[in-house]
Amino acid sequence: MLALAFSAAIAGIDAHVVRVETDSAAGVPAFAIVGLPDRALNESRERIRAAIVNSGFGFPPGRLLVNLAPAGMRKMGVAFDLAIALALLATDEQVAAAAIREYVACGEVALDGSLRAVPGMLAMTLAAKRAGFARIIVPEANRDEAALVDGIDVYAVPTLADAIAVVLGNGAKFRRRGVTVLDTSDRAACGDFADVKGQTLAKRALEIAAAGGHNVVLVGPPGCGKTMLARRVPSILPAMTTAEALDVTKVYSVAGLLGARPRVVSTRPFRAPHHTASRVSLVGGGSQPRPGEISLAQHGVLYLDELGEFTRSTLEVLRQPLEEGTVTIARAAGTHTFPARFTLVASMNPCPCGFRGVRGSDCRCNDMAVQKYLAKLSGPLLDRIDLHVSVSRVSFDELVQRGAAETSATIRARVELARERQLARLRDARVSTNAAIPAADVRQLCPLDVEPLALLESAVTRGTLSARAFDRIARVARTIADLSGSERIVREHVAEALLYRGADGSRTA
Ligand SMILES: Nc1ncnc2c1ncn2[C@@H]1O[C@H](COP(=O)(O)OP(=O)(O)O)[C@@H](O)[C@H]1O
Ligand SMILES: [Mg+2]
Ligand SMILES: [Zn+2]
Repeated sequence: MLALAFSAAIAGIDAHVVRVETDSAAGVPAFAIVGLPDRALNESRERIRAAIVNSGFGFPPGRLLVNLAPAGMRKMGVAFDLAIALALLATDEQVAAAAIREYVACGEVALDGSLRAVPGMLAMTLAAKRAGFARIIVPEANRDEAALVDGIDVYAVPTLADAIAVVLGNGAKFRRRGVTVLDTSDRAACGDFADVKGQTLAKRALEIAAAGGHNVVLVGPPGCGKTMLARRVPSILPAMTTAEALDVTKVYSVAGLLGARPRVVSTRPFRAPHHTASRVSLVGGGSQPRPGEISLAQHGVLYLDELGEFTRSTLEVLRQPLEEGTVTIARAAGTHTFPARFTLVASMNPCPCGFRGVRGSDCRCNDMAVQKYLAKLSGPLLDRIDLHVSVSRVSFDELVQRGAAETSATIRARVELARERQLARLRDARVSTNAAIPAADVRQLCPLDVEPLALLESAVTRGTLSARAFDRIARVARTIADLSGSERIVREHVAEALLYRGADGSRTA
């Protein structure tokens, strides 16, 4: 007899509902699964057989065929176990076939019939809801994650036998209603800008970065506080919207990082991969593609400390995400796209030894070595960094000063106002920050006053300012104007933007 059940498969960070079709026929006992299964899926045959028997049911006799559809979609992982087990039981009428079609069922079965958590349950539950299902059965251990989704009944069960009880209509006690718990954990964990003495220019640049979504690089000698500054950026970023929070949570769910007590991730991520990190851990990949650090930084900060130590090929793969906000991972079995919209904060030394330009130190790096060091970063990467900030060591006097520096909360209040102004202006441009304004729209959305415009245009005409550098200065000036509550971009805004111009030919502007 034919039976049908539904499960879900992860693709990238989204999931799709999968049909589990089973057929049984008289004949020599056999059990096959088709529909592009990977190796893990073949192993699930033995698990499913044992789990059914150990749950007190009979394994259906005869020739059993399981087909996972649509066939074109590569299906990975072990989340189909539960639906396959239910469909098999329906083929010989131990469970009503009509009843199981009402549910999406996801979970790995263990030999003893218990259910194990699977990664990506948030995306799977969203997929079930999107496909019009009113009910989903998940392993107990995935309960809180599935329950983040409103508008679908979640049955969280510890065992296969309990899943069958749900299908038979005896599962009320396993039902969880959608409860969206927004984690309000404070941001103090990352430290406060009040801890950083002096460094007025660097702090100001980071405020501009946070307000306009601009990428930023801090250049300075070791020990000047670059890492200390960068780690505090999340403390001044605006709060996430609910939609952003769910986006981020989906990434962490698929990466299996939500932990035992999943919540909506509601604080902006801060990821700081080491320069020795592998390419896969950075951009994502693997045989069952998982998101990498750049995706885990979604809507937050990707901090690349010691930028000069990253290999050229590593930096090269950041190009697509920096331009498009996504990363595409090509695999033999198909391509996956993960979100990767983050603010890049980078820090680096000014030269290989780190002390070039520091008074009283003896940097012996020759010009060739310095050029080679900087060349690695030039081009696509530095082009995408709107703010280049030179950081020097604070004096002893500054370090011991007692006066209270501005707190992160004060700075964040200004950042949030500036973001609101941008959102109102950019509503029709389909971007949400000044940094994301496309080149084609810069002139219209960041119109400079007559005088600063004439100044920059003559620099472009003379060839001392590239068109790209012009756009960058205009975007930063727009953010500076937004921070000061000005709709017009006047001379002082442009003058300040020029402080953060890059080392790529815009220096002489
Ligand atoms: N401006 C500053 N205010 C307070 N402490 C500072 C400052 N600059 C540096 N420090 C101290 O020096 C340490 C090293 O700074 P760090 O951020 O690691 O420097 P870098 O990353 O530039 O090498 C910090 O942990 C902090 O204790
Ligand atoms: Mg450092
Ligand atoms: Zn040096």
